[in-house]
Amino acid sequence: MFPIAVLALVATAQAHTVAWTKGMYCSGGPDLSTVNLNTNTAVGPLYNLAKEDWWFQHERGCDAAPPQDGEVLELPAGGSFTVELAHNRAQTTLSYGGQYASDWPDGKDHPEDWAGPGSPPDCIQDDGAMHTNNQSMAAGTAFAISYQSDLADVTIDNLAVFTVLEHTPWKRIATYEVPADLPACPEGGCTCAWLWRRILTANSKPRYMAGYKCNVTGSTSSKQVAPAQVAAYCEGDSTKCVKGAKQMIAFNQQTGNNVQVPNGKTPMYNTAWGWESGAQNDIFV
Ligand SMILES: *[C@@H]1O[C@H](CO)[C@@H](O)[C@H](O)[C@H]1NC(C)=O
Ligand SMILES: *[C@@H]1O[C@H](CO)[C@@H](O)[C@H](O)[C@H]1NC(C)=O
Repeated sequence: MFPIAVLALVATAQAHTVAWTKGMYCSGGPDLSTVNLNTNTAVGPLYNLAKEDWWFQHERGCDAAPPQDGEVLELPAGGSFTVELAHNRAQTTLSYGGQYASDWPDGKDHPEDWAGPGSPPDCIQDDGAMHTNNQSMAAGTAFAISYQSDLADVTIDNLAVFTVLEHTPWKRIATYEVPADLPACPEGGCTCAWLWRRILTANSKPRYMAGYKCNVTGSTSSKQVAPAQVAAYCEGDSTKCVKGAKQMIAFNQQTGNNVQVPNGKTPMYNTAWGWESGAQNDIFV
């Protein structure tokens, strides 16, 4: 029964990607009465929605599906944490003992230099969910943190991007660095978001935000994360980059958009918008 369900899912061309890990909202789907090992509810993009609907995937009920008590994504200060980027929980080690997980987000095998057809390569066709031509063109993904334990208290300016991983999503395993100066979280932990803004193509709905209960461990820092500012386009002129704590990118929604986007540009978590890859060590007051 299960393999048929997965095959059916992968065959529908536009699969998408999210970071799967302990502590994730909606990790078993939005229905709290059951744990769906084969869920992809948290994977779908968010596009042209009102702020209250896209914020932490409210429109699909994920903001009301917290992780089980005690499950938290640990962020070791000055260290790193690893998540699984995949199109469906079934393709991660969170389900079925990992037997349907591969090195890649779709549970299949691909060459190391996987690329789309042609030269220079077009978008990868056999997996629409990657939305890239090759690894070097992958847009980059990020995590943001809010020092609020209750998701209802998280706001766009108390949620700061603290780590960026260039050239992702690419393989299933993705490891993000944690700034050494991140202070400890309040007693109930912090709230995090995984973020991806992929390259804009015709008919694409390229914005992703997923929620996590997270907690900074091993911190000796007494610094505070600064209020997050709106990022600015600064390709080729680093003096235009917004330094310090930055908000997630909100764009192509009905309401809640924050960035000013020059014609023909796509806002992404990369250097063109002021984000170097790795721990964001400049986000403190
Ligand atoms: C990746 O794809 C882009 C876009 O087609 C191309 O310009 C670039 O040369 C490719 N990079 C590699 C390493 O093949
Ligand atoms: C967060 O981590 C700290 C330090 O390890 C620990 O004392 C605390 O209990 C943790 N809180 C949660 C909610 O996991």
